[in-house]
Amino acid sequence: MDPAGFCGQTRVIIVAGKGGAGKTTVSAALARMAARAGLTTLVVDVEGTSGLPAAFGRPGPLRYDEVVLSEAGPGGTAQVRARTLTPDDALLEYLEGHGMGRISRRLLSTGAVDVVATAAPGIKDILVLGKVKQLERTGSADLVVVDAPATGHAVTFLSSASGLLDAVRAGPIRAQAEDVVELLADPERCQVLLVTSPEETPVNEAVESAYTLEDRVGVSLAPVVVNGLYAPVEGIDADPVEAAAAAGAFLRPGEADALAAAARFRQARTALQAEQVERLAKALPLPQLHLPFLFTTELGLTEVDVLAAALADGVRRLPG
Ligand SMILES: Nc1ncnc2c1ncn2[C@@H]1O[C@H](COP(=O)(O)OP(=O)(O)OP(=O)(O)O)[C@@H](O)[C@H]1O
Ligand SMILES: [Mg+2]
Repeated sequence: MDPAGFCGQTRVIIVAGKGGAGKTTVSAALARMAARAGLTTLVVDVEGTSGLPAAFGRPGPLRYDEVVLSEAGPGGTAQVRARTLTPDDALLEYLEGHGMGRISRRLLSTGAVDVVATAAPGIKDILVLGKVKQLERTGSADLVVVDAPATGHAVTFLSSASGLLDAVRAGPIRAQAEDVVELLADPERCQVLLVTSPEETPVNEAVESAYTLEDRVGVSLAPVVVNGLYAPVEGIDADPVEAAAAAGAFLRPGEADALAAAARFRQARTALQAEQVERLAKALPLPQLHLPFLFTTELGLTEVDVLAAALADGVRRLPG
């Protein structure tokens, strides 16, 4: 499948996964892959704290108003924009849109609004997703990527709307919830992309949330992204002394042992990762997209583009 076709399958991709699994990084890579395929992309940060601008080499933090993270460029590369859409943002906009603009900011700053949100759990989630729906409808970008909260919260976040439908019989909030349920259930409008690292607990959590999301929320799942795989190292099983001699290098005492230990460690980690990838494939019948672990201290646009290219390679291998 070509990346343009992949990104054009649906209007909204919600990126979910365990804390630290790489949701923000994968959202950035996905946005760049879509942009390079010519689709304008808007990344929506629902927590307002992500390192998304840093991943594009831009100063942060993001705000409610859209900013350009990467410009349109040669070869038909489209723009990537981003904004926050936190629960408070969404509530404020909702209240303003319903003629309560003047008091709503004060209510928010005094915490009065949180009393309402506590009394009706999930209400803010519905407002956030209602706003995502509006972004999707107005077509402000070809693709909207939602950098979602960590898994436990993501399941609640995405199931709030259907939960509220059972509880609220009429009114504007019910109408919003209905819209959200409709959006989530339509694979041509919205899919959830799960990100996991190739480790035991994250894989378990990914499998569990995949089934919960499908059963309880009725949302379609995109291929699952396995992030942070160690790339194979050529010659890793070579004997350090022989390899050094062949390269004309001199090893000081202890270095051969240290190199051999490092190689064994890397091989063991790679084997463990492969085991988890296999376990994931058995437990979850979804195609996988693999992203390499990048050995750098900080991820910037160069690294995000490396990941975007790896993502595109994986997509090209998917059946069309
Ligand atoms: N493929 C990778 N190679 C190297 N480092 C990575 C990779 N993917 C993510 N990271 C790094 O791991 C850390 C966590 O990634 P990221 O912030 O994308 O995760 P997250 O799931 O969004 O976390 P949170 O749950 O806190 O929002 C970051 O420092 C990021 O730069
Ligand atoms: Mg994040």
